[in-house]
Amino acid sequence: MPADVIRAANLVKTYKVKGKPDFRAVDDLSFEVAPGESFGLLGPNGAGKSTTMKMVGAVSTRTSGELEILGLDPNRYGPEIRSRLGVVPQDDNLDGELNARENLYVYGRYFGMPGRECARKAEELLAFAQLEEKAKNKVDQLSGGMKRRLTIARGLINDPRILLLDEPTTGLDPQARHILWDRLFRLKERGTTLVLTTHYMDEAEQLCDRLIVVDKGRIMAQGTPSSLIREHSSREVLELRFGSSRNEHVAPQLAGIGDRVEVLPDRILIYASDGEAALDRVTAAGLQPITSLVRRSSLEDVFLRLTGRSLIE
Ligand SMILES: Nc1ncnc2c1ncn2[C@@H]1O[C@H](COP(=O)(O)OP(=O)(O)OP(=O)(O)O)[C@@H](O)[C@H]1O
Ligand SMILES: [Mg+2]
Repeated sequence: MPADVIRAANLVKTYKVKGKPDFRAVDDLSFEVAPGESFGLLGPNGAGKSTTMKMVGAVSTRTSGELEILGLDPNRYGPEIRSRLGVVPQDDNLDGELNARENLYVYGRYFGMPGRECARKAEELLAFAQLEEKAKNKVDQLSGGMKRRLTIARGLINDPRILLLDEPTTGLDPQARHILWDRLFRLKERGTTLVLTTHYMDEAEQLCDRLIVVDKGRIMAQGTPSSLIREHSSREVLELRFGSSRNEHVAPQLAGIGDRVEVLPDRILIYASDGEAALDRVTAAGLQPITSLVRRSSLEDVFLRLTGRSLIE
């Protein structure tokens, strides 16, 4: 077995808050990432995902615990680690003064790559990001999805072993997200290790071989998307809407149908191995939902089960 490329043990990050005890943004995280793996951190706003990514990217120091990136301690080997990683931060920090091609070129120079190599690599990455036609456009003239693709291309300029992606598709429309997922699949196929954060369960299911579910700086569960769903949810979910004023009132009458009933403000979820059979029992009980939908369980259901809250607030 090749050595893990990332190893975190009891990782902690606290922030000082005036007049209060230190705030633990990352609270005892332990995880490993194997070479070529696509590893995810899934969690809601404020879970500590970006804080973890900054420590892994060697731009923020840990408060305690152990951390090794490519076998090196970021406290001692920050520059070496940074030169071997690609980073896509949560907020695009492209240079607005420069065009798309120049953004790639300048970033390569920043890593000390020779000019000719930067130029060659910039062309290759413009093609990879499907931005050849926008090569001469200033960053401000690119759409949100194009900027994201350019940031990913920029992160690849130094042929990194590991690419860190902090919320790669947040704020993008479905089409732009699918284009981006396709590019990330290609990287994965080439053997690049991907570490990504997301609060989209479909993104985690699509892209991650394995993930940790994080909430309030702690790991709630970990595993492959399918093993997490198997372990923490039923096979199917029946979603019922009775109208926002009636959901709460109807819920007690659903007790005993399926394995578990979850009442959300806008709908009721019945967890069951057979959603259609559960729906038959609802109608047999004389209840008439306005809408009903049977679907497979998702990571969203896992998160709800573990924390009692939705991933996207
Ligand atoms: N520099 C800082 N000083 C103080 N508190 C901070 C700092 N950076 C982050 N935090 C706090 O740490 C917690 C975790 O923040 P973090 O940015 O890691 O969350 P996240 O999981 O990336 O959330 P999001 O999905 O919104 O990006 C939050 O409560 C945040 O307010
Ligand atoms: Mg974040």
